[in-house]
Amino acid sequence: MKKLGVAVIGTGFWGKNHARIYNDLTSTELKAICDIDWMRAKAVGKQFDVKSYKSSAKMLKNEKIEAVSVCTWSTRLAAEARKALEAGKHVLVEKPMANRSKQAEELVKISETNELHLTVGFLMRFIPGLQNIRESIEKNRIGELVCATAKRVSQWPERIGDIGVVKDTAIHDIDVMRYISNEDPNSVYAKTGSMKHRKFEDYAQIMLTYKDGGSAFLESNWLTPYKTRVLTVTGSKAIMKLDFMTQELWIEKQKDSLQPRYSWQEPLKLELQHFADCVLKRQNPLITGIDGVKALKIAEAALLSSAKNRSIKL
Ligand SMILES: NC(=O)c1ccc[n+]([C@@H]2O[C@H](COP(=O)([O-])OP(=O)(O)OC[C@H]3O[C@@H](n4cnc5c(N)ncnc54)[C@H](O)[C@@H]3O)[C@@H](O)[C@H]2O)c1
Repeated sequence: MKKLGVAVIGTGFWGKNHARIYNDLTSTELKAICDIDWMRAKAVGKQFDVKSYKSSAKMLKNEKIEAVSVCTWSTRLAAEARKALEAGKHVLVEKPMANRSKQAEELVKISETNELHLTVGFLMRFIPGLQNIRESIEKNRIGELVCATAKRVSQWPERIGDIGVVKDTAIHDIDVMRYISNEDPNSVYAKTGSMKHRKFEDYAQIMLTYKDGGSAFLESNWLTPYKTRVLTVTGSKAIMKLDFMTQELWIEKQKDSLQPRYSWQEPLKLELQHFADCVLKRQNPLITGIDGVKALKIAEAALLSSAKNRSIKL
């Protein structure tokens, strides 16, 4: 079977995981890695026995590299994804895809012009319990959708210094809400602020409302001493609860409750396997560049809403 030649740009905490998985998958062959921190690049290259680069420009000239994961600091994602697309590589760019939605839109345009895959690292979509929730809503198994609430809180991961909690953390749940409802909200109201972080917001409460009157509430912060990542979806006939970390799913009905069992799977592995399959089989990815643009626009609207203290129409 043909293996997809891949490389990783940015091999810090998360990029190292991309490199590990590409190295393990039978459908991919890790060809090179790149990090502007040369010591790190050398160490990761050595770990996986591949060539290390300090800058992506030279690495991207290698024709055996067909696809690239971009895992740099968030404010550098768009520039590196752009370089990779312009060099003719398929791209998986980590969330939040770009610092501004305009940059994200440009990436979509370049990928379309060059007929390349562009997908975004919205990892949550690969958790089987979330797919069950989406299907249950779609097939009307939990009745009419009343509301969905997501809580994603923890201490501030101090390595993140270039964006705030909305674009870094809440964006996962913004995408989750788009995914499970298969719909975009029509307005956003948010309160954000900073208690510990000097430059960016470290807490956000975001309310999304939909044209049929449904709503979603997202709580994200870097101020909570323990880590929680949960989603509760309330329907008129049942409530579904998912713990994103343990991947446990509960379904509670009037008379009974059940817990479908899924064996825990590493979502990043599923995501990278899917990316490789889509490129190799020329199939459309589950998450498109447009999904990234839309999530980023909602995140931007949340920040604007908080700054203006009013709801923002989308
Ligand atoms: N999808 C997810 O669940 C998930 C989880 C964690 C991180 N992320 C995303 O992954 C990205 C990286 O996060 P992290 O926690 O690994 O950060 P990190 O700071 O640990 O690593 C970033 C690395 O990128 C390198 N880098 C920066 N600019 C570069 C450039 N232009 N070229 C090459 N290398 C460059 C840095 O030297 C560093 O080694 C972020 O965008 C983050 O939002 C996504």
